Amino acid sequence: MNIDLKGQVVLVTGAAGGIGEAIVRQLGEHGATVAIHYNSNKEHAQKLAREVGNESKIFGADLSVPLNGVALVRDVIRTCGSLGTLVNNAGVYLCSPNEKNIGEWLTDWNRTIAVNLTATGVLCREAVNYFKKAGGGRIVNIASRAAFRGDYEDYFAYAASKGGMVALSKTIARAYGKHNIKSFVVAPGFVRTPIIDEYIKEHGAEKIMNELALNELTRPEDIAPTIVFLASGLMDHATGCSIDINAASYVR
Ligand SMILES: NC(=O)c1ccc[n+]([C@@H]2O[C@H](COP(=O)([O-])OP(=O)(O)OC[C@H]3O[C@@H](n4cnc5c(N)ncnc54)[C@H](OP(=O)(O)O)[C@@H]3O)[C@@H](O)[C@H]2O)c1
Repeated sequence: MNIDLKGQVVLVTGAAGGIGEAIVRQLGEHGATVAIHYNSNKEHAQKLAREVGNESKIFGADLSVPLNGVALVRDVIRTCGSLGTLVNNAGVYLCSPNEKNIGEWLTDWNRTIAVNLTATGVLCREAVNYFKKAGGGRIVNIASRAAFRGDYEDYFAYAASKGGMVALSKTIARAYGKHNIKSFVVAPGFVRTPIIDEYIKEHGAEKIMNELALNELTRPEDIAPTIVFLASGLMDHATGCSIDINAASYVR
């Protein structure tokens, strides 16, 4: 099977590290022009764009501010000339014990919902409005196994945000299929990236390993090929689906 994404512009959010970076690299290897979104990590995003080539470009935006998502999509389309696939990967994983006072707990809740769900909603809205005029497109939302099996006690907001991403994704698939717009969820389990460093520090890597059926912790490179495949169009008839990549730590 030969996957050639030459000529396709793919926007990946949260792309300057972790799962996003692996997605960018593998999309680039298959010829895509990648719009590499970053929040704080501009230098690394620049280096990544140079390494990936294919006229890939970087775009900065703090997605905790809802309207920045609107500007991001429009800027990508203006600068790169089109958009074929949107990958909503940016996210936060805030540990927020219920013992925190309500003010602090709400700050965590609001930030989690803002970055993980509201930004995803805004980006999807902009992309769908563009795809309708452009004749189609694809969306891949990086959710989590937490959306399906629930999360640990300190992560109410994270699980709720990821559940929202799944419902949003299914809605787009059902509502806009006739406009040639496809929407997918990829739901990882634990993946070795900075986002889980705090969890590992607190609970130890052993706790995670005990949950997995495999002997190795999933790496970002184990997630990325699925996104390449989804962007290729070869999976279009699976629109609306959720793909689990969690080393059988949760089997539905
Ligand atoms: N690692 C896991 O175990 C795991 C499991 C299930 C799902 N996921 C999901 O996979 C996705 C990628 O996570 P990761 O593990 O690769 O973590 P990561 O390396 O920490 O990446 C998170 C990304 O989100 C971006 N981001 C954070 N706050 C932002 C904001 N306010 N505005 C814009 N971007 C922001 C970061 O950008 P900057 O670095 O530029 O600030 C970073 O690139 C997330 O949606 C996460 O929920 C991860």
